[in-house]
Amino acid sequence: MSQQFEDAYRRSLEDPAGYWGDLAEAIDWTKRWDRVLDDDRPPFYRWFEGAETNTCWNAVDRHVDNGRGEQRALIWDSPITGKQRILTYNDLKNEVSTFAGVLRKHGVEKGDRVLIYMPAVPEAVIGMLACARIGAIHSVVFGGFAAAEVAKRLDDATPKVLLTASCGIEPGRIIPYMPILNQAFEIAAHVPSSVVVLAREEQTAELKPGRDHDWDEEAAGANPVDWVPVLATDPLYILYTSGTTGKPKGVIRDNGGHAVAMHWSMKGVYDLDPGDCWWAASDIGWVVGHSYIVYAPLIHGNTTIMFEGKPVGTPDAGVFWRVIAEHGVKALFTAPTAFRAIKKEDPKGEFLSKYDLSKMDTLFLAGERADPDTIQWAERMLDKPVIDHWWQTETGWAMAANCLGLGRFPVKYGSPTKPTPGYDIDILDDAGHAVPDGEIGAICVKLPLPPSGLPTLWNNDEGYIESYMADFPGYYKTGDAGMYDEDGYIYIMSRTDDLINTAGHRLSTGAMEEVLSRHQDVAECAVIGVADQLKGQVPVGFMVLKAGVNREHDAIVKEVVQMVRDDIGAVASFRQATVVNRLPKTRSGKILRKTMRQIADGEDFPMPATIDDPVILDEIAQALKPLGYAG
Ligand code: COA
Ligand code: AMP
Repeated sequence: MSQQFEDAYRRSLEDPAGYWGDLAEAIDWTKRWDRVLDDDRPPFYRWFEGAETNTCWNAVDRHVDNGRGEQRALIWDSPITGKQRILTYNDLKNEVSTFAGVLRKHGVEKGDRVLIYMPAVPEAVIGMLACARIGAIHSVVFGGFAAAEVAKRLDDATPKVLLTASCGIEPGRIIPYMPILNQAFEIAAHVPSSVVVLAREEQTAELKPGRDHDWDEEAAGANPVDWVPVLATDPLYILYTSGTTGKPKGVIRDNGGHAVAMHWSMKGVYDLDPGDCWWAASDIGWVVGHSYIVYAPLIHGNTTIMFEGKPVGTPDAGVFWRVIAEHGVKALFTAPTAFRAIKKEDPKGEFLSKYDLSKMDTLFLAGERADPDTIQWAERMLDKPVIDHWWQTETGWAMAANCLGLGRFPVKYGSPTKPTPGYDIDILDDAGHAVPDGEIGAICVKLPLPPSGLPTLWNNDEGYIESYMADFPGYYKTGDAGMYDEDGYIYIMSRTDDLINTAGHRLSTGAMEEVLSRHQDVAECAVIGVADQLKGQVPVGFMVLKAGVNREHDAIVKEVVQMVRDDIGAVASFRQATVVNRLPKTRSGKILRKTMRQIADGEDFPMPATIDDPVILDEIAQALKPLGYAG
C-alpha cells in the first residue's frame, strides 16, 4: 500500500478545498480566489471562484520568465510528411502572441468561440493557445469527422472564426479540408465570418476571397498581443463528444480548475518533472490531445511531442521506438489499440532492438479497455511498467490510475488501479445502492467532481443534468459499468449506454442509426459494437427493409456504409451491415441491442425475460456468421 497515496486521497475527499487550494499554489494567478469551491448551486460546481488567471500565460510565458525560454516546448514529428520542427518556449511565445494578434484582427474577443479543424501540426497548438491568451473559447473538431458533424458543432458553438489547414494526410491519401468545410458551411445555419487556412506543401487550397485568409500572410502582418486575465471559472474550451443521440455534447472546460488539475497530474499521475520529455500519441481532436499533448505538459514545463503519423505503416512498426529514442521520451501515453497494431505487425518486437529506449520509464495506456494480453506483451517487449488509467472527455484527466507520483501499487491486469484523488467513486445498482465488491454496477462519482470536471454542457444545463446527474442524485454518472475488487481496485467492464469505443475513439451507435434510418429502403435499424482484435470494437448495422423493397442487399449495404462515411466520417469505421427480417425486441418494443452484441461476441447470455419472440435471436446469429461473428 502506498501511504502517500492513501493520505492524499483521504485528504482530497475530506478537505477538498484545502487539498486543491494547496495544489493551486503551483499555478500563477493575477487574483486569488474568494472560495476554492463554490458549491451553492448543486449540481453546478465552480472551482476557484473569484480567481483570475490565464492558461496561456501559465503554459508559455511564465516558463520564459522563469528561465525555460531555450528549452524545447513542442517537438513536431511527422513521419507521414518526413518533417520535424522544434519550438522552444521562446518560439512558442512568439508564435502564439503573434497569432493571438491575428485572432484579434478578425474581431475575436474574450468569450468568442473559435473552431479549429486541423491535422496534427504545431499551428493547431498555436491556435489553441492563442485563443486561451485572449480569453477566446476554442472548440477543436477531429479531422476524421465529415461535413455534417462539423456543421453540428458550428451551429452549437457559433464560432466567429475558424482555423484550418489546406489538408490532412492519411496513409496513401491526402484529405483536402476546404471542400469538407465548404459543405459544412452549406449545411450549417451559422457560418464563421473569417477562416484562416494554413497552406501545406502537400496540397494547397483555393481560398474564397473575403472569407478565407492565408495563415502565414496573416501572421506576417500581425501585431503580437499579451495575455489577458480571465476568471478561473471562464470557459477555456468546448470539446464535443459523442452522446447517445446524433447530437454531440459540448463539454466545457474552465480555466482555473483545469490548470490546477493538469499541473498536478503530470507529477501525481505520471511522475514527471519539469523539463522531462513526454509524448501523448493521440490527436488534438480528442481530450487526450487537449490535456496531454497541449495543456498539462506545457503548464508543467515539460517538452511535449506532437506526432503526425500512425503506429504502423509510417513507415513501419518501429516508428514509436524511433520517436522515443530520438527525442529522449521519458513516458509515452497512447491507446491500447496502437500497441495492438504494433504487436500485429511486429509480434516479436524486432524493431525494438534498433533503438535505445533507456530514457523511457513508463508506458501509460487509456482511452479504451486495456486487455491483459496487450499489456503483458508491451511489458515483455519494453521491459518497463505499463500503466492503465481510466478517464473521459468530461473529466479531462484520470478518474482511476496507479498514481506513480504518490507511490506505486502492484499492477493487476484488467484494472486501472484505484480512484485518483478527488474522485469518490461508488458502484451502484439501478436503485442507487452501492453493490458489494465483485459485483458489476454503474460507476458513479460522488459530487462535486474535482477540478477540471465539466461544470456543465455548452448552452445546455438541462442536458448536463439529464445526461449525468438525473439517474443517481448526488452523483455524476460516468456511463461506464464496472466493479471493485476486495483490494479497492476498480475494473471498467463496459458502457451502460449505446456508446462504443473504436480504436480509442468514442462513437455513438445512436448517431449511426440515425444515418441508416435515413436510407430510403430502411424501415428500422440497429447498430451495435462488436469485439474487434485490433480496434477493440467496431460497429455493425442491422437493417429491416421497407415492405416491397426487393433490391440487392449488397447494394443497400454499400450505400449505407457510404452514407455513414459521408455523414459522420471515416473515423466511424462503419464497414459492415446486414439485412434481417426483424430485430429482436422486448414486448414493449425496445430493441435488445445488448443481447445482439452478446450473440455477435459469442458470449453466453440469459434469455431476456421480456423478449417478444426468441426465434429472432437465431436469425440474428445466422445474419452475423457471414460477417465473421457469432462463431
Ligand atoms: N483525418 C481524416 N481521416 C482520418 C483521421 C484524420 N485525422 N484519422 C483517422 N482517419 C480515417 C482513417 O484514414 C481511416 O480511413 P479508412 O476507412 O479510409 O481507412 C478511418 O478514419 C478509421 O481510422 P482508424 O480507426 O484510426 O483506423 P486506421 O486503420 O487508420 O488505424 C490504428 C488504426 C490502430 C493504427 C489507429 O487507430 C491508431 O493509431 N490509433 C491510436 C490511438 C489513438 O490515437 N487514439 C486516440 C485516443 S487516445
Ligand atoms: P472519451 O471521452 O472519448 O475519452 O472516452 C471515454 C470512455 O472511454 C470511457 O467512458 C470508457 O468507456 C472508455 N475508457 C477510457 N479509458 C479506459 C480504460 N482505461 N479502460 C476502460 N475503458 C476506458
